[in-house]
Amino acid sequence: MNTQEIMQLALKMSGFDEVPGDSAIYRAGDGIRRVLFGIDIGVEELVWAKEQGYDLVIAHHPPNAALAYGQVFRRHVDFMVSWGIPKDEAEAAVADKLVDLQISSKTENFTRILGMARLLDMPFMNIHAPIDEITRKTIQSAVDKVLPAPMHRVVDVINALDPFPYSPVKAEQIMGDPDLVVDRAPVLIGAFTNGGYDVAKVWYSHGIPALIYMHVNPADFRKIKSEFSDKALVLTGHMPGDYVGALIFLRELKKRGLQITCVGFEDLV
Ligand SMILES: [Fe+2]
Ligand SMILES: [Fe+2]
Repeated sequence: MNTQEIMQLALKMSGFDEVPGDSAIYRAGDGIRRVLFGIDIGVEELVWAKEQGYDLVIAHHPPNAALAYGQVFRRHVDFMVSWGIPKDEAEAAVADKLVDLQISSKTENFTRILGMARLLDMPFMNIHAPIDEITRKTIQSAVDKVLPAPMHRVVDVINALDPFPYSPVKAEQIMGDPDLVVDRAPVLIGAFTNGGYDVAKVWYSHGIPALIYMHVNPADFRKIKSEFSDKALVLTGHMPGDYVGALIFLRELKKRGLQITCVGFEDLV
């Protein structure tokens, strides 16, 4: 396979029509056989991969170079609208964070890792939203199969998916009664990052009883809890959440004859 075919496979598996703004091929490669995959790839991993003779390095998180993050964060609007939330409310819920992303992107050093990939002549790409979208769909369909259900059952269903049984960090309900029976629990993953307080507030205000985030910052969580402590919030945890989609994708690459080394949960590929 070549890097283009690998990206196309990720798009096909996740349902994206085009490469989203947080994913890219930085240094193309052909005749790929050995792949190193990591959630975060830095210069160290690139150097090690080169020494070990890998043909390609794939990162999940963007290596400070794909700067159209806002385009992906706007997927929160699509999620809300698809569940019947008015578009103007959905747009308002992401407005501040879009500015934050634009401003903070200006500080990014987008030369270091990509510059080293070039100097090392190491094929390199990152696949972010497509892998997260595979995670979202996988968790959502597992959860939907058991709804309506008490929240502890929702959490158990997530913790049965790979790699949760092998992860020291488990999906956890961090707010609300574990016996609360819910009929809806949207999985809000695959939109670059979590929606924080602003997005959670809109969902809960529209009567959604439970939300599933991958992570949330502690200050946002305090605000959410002060207003919506009767609702439920589950965090999958960052690494097990990212690896749900990553493992599914990497197993497909393996089926196509590629040899995969994975920095985390390698035995599960
Ligand atoms: Fe992710
Ligand atoms: Fe992540």
